[in-house]
Amino acid sequence: MKGLILSGGTGSRLRPLTYTSAKQLIPIANKPILFYAIEAIRDAGIDDIGIIVGETRHEVKAAVGDGSRWGIKVTYIEQEAPLGLAHAVKIARPFLGNEPFIMFLGDNLVREGVTAFVERFKASKPEALILLSRVDEPQRFGVAELRDGRIVRLVEKPKVPPSDLALVGVYLFDQHIFEAVEAIRPSWRNELEITDAIQYLVEQGHTVEPHMVRGWWKDTGKPEDVLEANRLLLEAVEARIEGQVDGSSNLTGRVVVEKGARVMNSYIRGPAIIGEGSLVMNAYVGPFTSVGPNVTIANSEVEHSVILADSTISDVPERIDESLIGRNVTITRSQAKPRALKMVLGDNSRASVG
Ligand code: G1P
Repeated sequence: MKGLILSGGTGSRLRPLTYTSAKQLIPIANKPILFYAIEAIRDAGIDDIGIIVGETRHEVKAAVGDGSRWGIKVTYIEQEAPLGLAHAVKIARPFLGNEPFIMFLGDNLVREGVTAFVERFKASKPEALILLSRVDEPQRFGVAELRDGRIVRLVEKPKVPPSDLALVGVYLFDQHIFEAVEAIRPSWRNELEITDAIQYLVEQGHTVEPHMVRGWWKDTGKPEDVLEANRLLLEAVEARIEGQVDGSSNLTGRVVVEKGARVMNSYIRGPAIIGEGSLVMNAYVGPFTSVGPNVTIANSEVEHSVILADSTISDVPERIDESLIGRNVTITRSQAKPRALKMVLGDNSRASVG
């Protein structure tokens, strides 16, 4: 079997972070989302992986390389525009040949991995196997309608969802999917939808096997989802101190202090992770916080947040909570008069002042 990971798209709902980087490279618990997909596929025993890339191809290639770090072979497949998930399958045909494959959306996280699904697919050999999960807002996803455990219908982002069963962004296919992606027409959002291609398989009488995911699943399309995914992943983090923690600091719960990080006169309540080379000084870092590499947090309090590389938070009088802070951002208190909030925010930024 082969693997196909989708890492194109524009990441419009994660702007401004995605103006300068791919959404699939946003780190969760200090590891790019995309790496979790690579590892899940590798752990299922698949070592030949194609990655679909679009306008962020340079960053994705720089981050992933040739795959040797994971003991896999990576082939990059260029998608000239985000024309849909089924379009990605179409252009991946030369790479995939007639081998069955697992397709994994590079912004999806599946807690339990995919090994059990790959094994199930190999054993029962359906034309397609899809994963489903119950969600609160099915209208945001592809939705499945089941009867007696079988799929009756699949619809992409329905206004009136027939169920609360969302299609998870992991699919297993044999070569019949190529016929389906040729047969369908673009949707209202002008994309070739994989949901429509699977619906075509159903209509043609092919077997599409549904499976419920047991653990959590997260599509990290929006900032709230990134924070939630970070919370879920930190739930399982194990304490590890590789940096320095001075005697006047207090660490409780599961805290990771990576190499070269320094914690001075601070209180860190885990689960939390302090990235390589970061400095936490006279500060409080609360649960479910991921601090990226080379960040400074001084005389400030941060909780339930994700802070990316090279940012500085200093002398901020109020606690920062539920925030997603990009690279090289500075948040600081100014002594200058008049006292005021002074900001330089990128397009599509959001700031809430309490
Ligand atoms: C895509 C699929 C949708 C699926 C979702 C999972 O949506 O079209 O069917 O439920 O991924 O993450 P998109 O991210 O393109 O909005």
